[in-house]
Amino acid sequence: MRLLIMGPQGVGKGTQAALLSEHYGIPAISTGDIFRYNIKNKTELGVEALAYINKGELVPDELTNKIVKDRLAMDDAKNGWILDGYPRNASQVEALDAILADLGTPLDAVVALDADHDVLMERMRKRAEIEGRSDDTPEAIAKRLDVYAKETAPLLAIYDGRGLLKTFNGVGSVEDIQATIVAELG
Ligand SMILES: Nc1ncnc2c1ncn2[C@@H]1O[C@H](COP(=O)(O)OP(=O)(O)OP(=O)(O)O)[C@@H](O)[C@H]1O
Ligand SMILES: [Mg+2]
Repeated sequence: MRLLIMGPQGVGKGTQAALLSEHYGIPAISTGDIFRYNIKNKTELGVEALAYINKGELVPDELTNKIVKDRLAMDDAKNGWILDGYPRNASQVEALDAILADLGTPLDAVVALDADHDVLMERMRKRAEIEGRSDDTPEAIAKRLDVYAKETAPLLAIYDGRGLLKTFNGVGSVEDIQATIVAELG
């Protein structure tokens, strides 16, 4: 199973991706988590990405596309994966298409999660208290939501046009949402 999980900040992509990973026995790959790991370990990539992330901006495509290409070529990704947080703009969609064409592995579905703005803001406020992410400042959150609306949300139409899009309500119990997704994906 090769899946994308998409939706606005705070909608629950990471949570549902982890459960899908367990259910299908495939890795959940989050570009945000990869960046945070590199920042924590002060790698060259981490140092380069930090400035963008703290402003709520996208890390340049060149860096991000390379990370995804390398990660999807790893052994544990042979039988499938869930990508969380990628692609986020039209050029990343093209890059992913090229990566998958190279690997000879098409996408099976795009899982989109949806929730009202107020719900997202409240969840992010709570998460900021608990996790203390360096990009959970009001300014960076506003910027991320803006980038999502302008650059990422329009990608859903592309995948819908390819017949891959499945949209789910991101409000409800984590277990119920997961069960609904799994029932739909089979
Ligand atoms: N595909 C990507 N392209 C460019 N930058 C990315 C990408 N994925 C992650 N990033 C960088 O990492 C940051 C954190 O991403 P991450 O997905 O963890 O958080 P998010 O956008 O707040 O979503 P969520 O609330 O679902 O975790 C982004 O704001 C961006 O700077
Ligand atoms: Mg996340």
